Amino acid sequence: MKGIIFNLVEEVVANDHGPDAWDDILAAAGVEGAYTAVGSYSDDELLAIVSAAATATGASEDDILRHVGRYSIPPLAQRYPEFFTLHRGLRTFLPSLNSVIHPEVRKLYPGAQPPHFTITDDADGGILMEYHSQRSMCRLAEGLTLGAADHYGEPVTVTHPQCTREGASHCLLRVDLG
Ligand code: HEM
Repeated sequence: MKGIIFNLVEEVVANDHGPDAWDDILAAAGVEGAYTAVGSYSDDELLAIVSAAATATGASEDDILRHVGRYSIPPLAQRYPEFFTLHRGLRTFLPSLNSVIHPEVRKLYPGAQPPHFTITDDADGGILMEYHSQRSMCRLAEGLTLGAADHYGEPVTVTHPQCTREGASHCLLRVDLG
């Protein structure tokens, strides 16, 4: 996983609990913690940090990933405003993950392997997001989607009707607007 994701986790933790909390989490996770945005680090290292954060806060690892995703959107929107200003809401922003944002990420961060989403409109107005990734970070995807909804001021419900953890071939997220 690219260092920028670790940088975002640090930003969220430091915002919530102060910079010392980040040092404590790194120590508990047994990792060194010098992450450059374009560097590549093991997914296990990220998961060790998430696990240490869960132990420190009493939250579940899933909740930590969701939380980190959600509150990573403001710093991402600050770093990459053009990805967001092109859109008025999730209905066009979400498909741009595949057509613009993550393809751009591959250029900006050589070696990045962002997930692929197949996005369709459901007959009853919801947005369906098939999540395809070698990683199982569907909770991070849920959080990022919630953060993008916050960004556009759109009230949404995000559900996870299908998950690889329950044996499905891929995860499915469902976004209901309004
Ligand atoms: C709703 C919005 C977004 C969703 C749902 C989303 C989803 C994800 C997820 C789940 C991952 C973890 C890797 C994986 O699961 O395979 C990821 C990786 C990544 N995303 Fe996104 N993303 C969003 C927006 C953005 C934006 C706005 C950027 C801006 C540059 C971005 C840049 C990245 C980068 C750099 C990685 C790391 C890839 C790697 O290390 O290989 N994402 N994304």
